[in-house]
Amino acid sequence: MLIRTAVYDGVLLTNALFVLALSAVAVFLYNYLLRPAFPAGAPKVIRENYPVLGAIDFFRKRRELFDSGKSQTSTGNFSFYVGKLNVIGLTSEQGRQVFFENRALSFSEGYAVLFGQNAKPPKLEFSEGESKFSQHFGKRLIQLVKRENIYRNLPNLISDVRAKLQPFADANSGIMEPFDIIYKIVFQLTMRTVGCNDFADDPVLLEKTLALFEYIDKSATSTGILFPWLPTPARIKRDFAGARLYMMFRKVAEERKKLGKRDNDALQFLLDEGDTIGQIMVFVVGALFAGLLNTGINAAAICMYLATNSEWMAKARGEVESVAARHRKDANAPLAETLAALPDSAWEEEFPVVEMCLRESIRLQTRGTAFRRNNTGRDIPVGKEIIPNGAFVTYHIDEVHMNPNIYPEPDYWDPSRYLPERAEDQKVHWAYLGWGVGRHPCLGMRFAQLEVRIVTAFFLAMFDFELVDENGNLTSRLPKIDRNGTSAGKPDEPVFLKYKVRDQMAY
Ligand code: HEM
Ligand SMILES: *[C@@H]1O[C@H](CO)[C@@H](O)[C@H](O)[C@H]1NC(C)=O
Ligand SMILES: *[C@@H]1O[C@H](CO)[C@@H](O)[C@H](O)[C@H]1NC(C)=O
Ligand SMILES: *[C@@H]1O[C@H](CO)[C@@H](O)[C@H](O)[C@H]1NC(C)=O
Ligand SMILES: *[C@@H]1O[C@H](CO)[C@@H](O)[C@H](O)[C@H]1NC(C)=O
Repeated sequence: MLIRTAVYDGVLLTNALFVLALSAVAVFLYNYLLRPAFPAGAPKVIRENYPVLGAIDFFRKRRELFDSGKSQTSTGNFSFYVGKLNVIGLTSEQGRQVFFENRALSFSEGYAVLFGQNAKPPKLEFSEGESKFSQHFGKRLIQLVKRENIYRNLPNLISDVRAKLQPFADANSGIMEPFDIIYKIVFQLTMRTVGCNDFADDPVLLEKTLALFEYIDKSATSTGILFPWLPTPARIKRDFAGARLYMMFRKVAEERKKLGKRDNDALQFLLDEGDTIGQIMVFVVGALFAGLLNTGINAAAICMYLATNSEWMAKARGEVESVAARHRKDANAPLAETLAALPDSAWEEEFPVVEMCLRESIRLQTRGTAFRRNNTGRDIPVGKEIIPNGAFVTYHIDEVHMNPNIYPEPDYWDPSRYLPERAEDQKVHWAYLGWGVGRHPCLGMRFAQLEVRIVTAFFLAMFDFELVDENGNLTSRLPKIDRNGTSAGKPDEPVFLKYKVRDQMAY
């Protein structure tokens, strides 16, 4: 039996190898022989291009590729392949201007392909701008995260945060991983705001949806972008996870219909607008993609940075306490109770210190390039050069965010950069890209800021905390940020905070 299995496995393996070899030949023909040449007028093609794969540094050493590309051309703009895709890198103030302002460059097509979600490039529609789908997506998101909607939900958001932090307070003191716990809090807040209460309220369903989302997120592999037709394990898992999520949403929607039950949440709103379950699932996953990673990582990063910076720790806690003092109705009320009862306007207007901390965390944590695609059917002149039709366009955020002439000692976290007397983010046009600029500013900014303010305020109100290493020893060593990375993400090494609950009255 064992032997038979081994022989059978052997045959399978041979077959698999044969298929693999055939695939390799097919890839070669498809990607190399058939890949479109860059037309005359396109920026210079840089030397990092390998046959078939193109500039693989795009995946592993993105920052290095862009530094090198910029240095190889006189205009600063350059061309390379990713698999068989034509990609242009833009640099400099003019390049940035074109990238963020030119209406002929599509946001959704750029991200859909190079961010790895839908690796098969859509057929060029010559639509001059965004697809119907992405217009629909933007419209729904704007409706859901407009001011009155997120503040209607504020008591729920606050009790989510408090409930998740309470076990740590009950333990009195200990060690926690902010990139785990705070990230999960943000997932819950996001699910509540753009998804449905049924998942946000149930810890088991919440874990399950997070796991499914993370499968989908992880499937954005370089293989998927290079070989869009290959059924990679990641692709299969993604499709499976997508189907599971679909069924979970369908179950909730059908139960509501059957029981005639309604809820005051995003799902109900989308159902009432007549969206199908498929549309709803795609919307929720899209909104999680746009919102979860950036917000979760930066909310956690702020606590990490504050733990190593006594000056800004004192400022931030002072801000939380003075906002509470201004709005305290009962002199004996604990700090956390007072925060829970703050008026909307206090959350909107009274946290400028936390806001500067967030701005600085985003500057450092944002990595990689933004994406666009020329889907106009016309060549777009960029000065004397053109962005060919169908080509993808990239701009590396580090060109401004990590530029020592704009932000001296750019690797240091220092919110003082944004004080009026320094105003480093105003030094050149669009020196700060953390919330997007030009034609595609972040649609979730107000919601993200509110989430971060709530998490940070309660965290500071409830705990004293400091950064420690894996042995629990105090440290001031922050995890290194790999500037070659391709998006914000959890640090490679785990980060630990040693915390102690603050005086009973104070929380
Ligand atoms: C700290 C958290 C966040 C950061 C740093 C951030 C950053 C950004 C940036 C830089 C862009 C522009 C990208 C580009 O030009 O290529 C953008 C766009 C966008 N963001 Fe955010 N974002 C955050 C949170 C959110 C949240 C919570 C949501 C929604 C729930 C959201 C939804 C969007 C959408 C829909 C767009 C695309 C806008 C368009 O198509 O024109 N973001 N964001
Ligand atoms: C976009 O592609 C079309 C099709 O070739 C081309 O005519 C047009 O010049 C391109 N736009 C830019 C900006 O290069
Ligand atoms: C990129 O191309 C445009 C058009 O030629 C030009 O305005 C810009 O200066 C170029 N970038 C650099 C760094 O020269
Ligand atoms: C850190 O903690 C470990 C285990 O508690 C201890 O053995 C070690 O001496 C400490 N290291 C430093 C540098 O304090
Ligand atoms: C990018 O990666 C390369 C090779 O791994 C490394 O030499 C380089 O220093 C990295 N660049 C940055 C800016 O981190």
